[in-house]
Amino acid sequence: MVQLKAKIIYNKKFKGDYWHCIIDAPLIAKKSIPGQFVNIKLSDTLEPFLRRPFSIHRIGSPAKGNFLPKTIEILYKIIGQGTEILSGRKKGEYLDIIGPLGNGFDYTRTHEHTNTRTILVAGGMGVAPLVFLSEKIKAKAKVALIGARTKAQVLCEKEFKNSGCDVKIATDDGSAGFKGKVTELLRQVLLTNSRTHELTNYIYACGPKPMLKAVAGIAKKYRVSAQISLEEHMACGIGACLGCVVKTKTGYKRACKDGPVFEAQDII
Ligand SMILES: Cc1cc2nc3c(=O)[nH]c(=O)nc-3n(C[C@H](O)[C@H](O)[C@H](O)COP(=O)(O)OP(=O)(O)OC[C@H]3O[C@@H](n4cnc5c(N)ncnc54)[C@H](O)[C@@H]3O)c2cc1C
Ligand code: FES
Repeated sequence: MVQLKAKIIYNKKFKGDYWHCIIDAPLIAKKSIPGQFVNIKLSDTLEPFLRRPFSIHRIGSPAKGNFLPKTIEILYKIIGQGTEILSGRKKGEYLDIIGPLGNGFDYTRTHEHTNTRTILVAGGMGVAPLVFLSEKIKAKAKVALIGARTKAQVLCEKEFKNSGCDVKIATDDGSAGFKGKVTELLRQVLLTNSRTHELTNYIYACGPKPMLKAVAGIAKKYRVSAQISLEEHMACGIGACLGCVVKTKTGYKRACKDGPVFEAQDII
């Protein structure tokens, strides 16, 4: 983990209320693994006082031919004061960043066996860490299930496809893909897979709490290993304030330090 002032090299609207920011931070980029996050001080004043956490969406910028992990990318949605301020920060300005933080996904076990199917389940902004994971993971088959309210809010379809995923979409209003919850799509995928048994499934999920709860329930029913990334409210982001504790089967854990990724069946 390092704290540094890093230069913004790109910060533009991605889609609707969603923004994409690329930051020059080689010291963080080279140490980052999928599922980790950075804690950013968004302004030079005391407002907002607390840093804001954002998942590392990608490192480097392969699409632009830069294969060195020099930059970190974040994808964010404007929901309040901090993210509003971030959207106003310009190329060439500096951000005070701490990272990489948290444990990240344990995705090496899918590398140990060739007969694995990775199922990525993303709800809304939950796509952010899963694109990075999808680019890193090796598996015989990769499926990305993207859930959103409407077609206009479906994020990163192209990025998941480019990383070799079979992409399926679920929207609440049916304007794209399956009409209904992304967890219903997950149930369908697992049901189909359970009839063939040819591949071992691993689920990695990020999204709103009700979605993660449903993912945990479905994973348990189908006896599939699942890791979920929790987006708890955070203050310090480094394990010192206990502002982000979650109850697990082995006691209270800090989402920022012991997580944000947990085995789904460990969370109470
Ligand atoms: C580990 C982690 C990774 C994250 N990754 C991303 C990411 O990649 N992209 C992204 O857009 N956001 C991400 N978030 C959420 C992001 O940190 C918040 O959106 C941000 O802090 C909001 O700041 P704000 O000042 O704009 O809003 P605030 O004014 O602080 O809050 C606006 C409203 O949103 C609610 N809110 C704030 N933070 C959260 C939260 N963490 N969970 C649920 N509700 C919240 C507040 O209660 C309030 O109602 C992540 C959070 C965590 C903990
Ligand atoms: S945010 Fe302070 S301990 Fe997690």
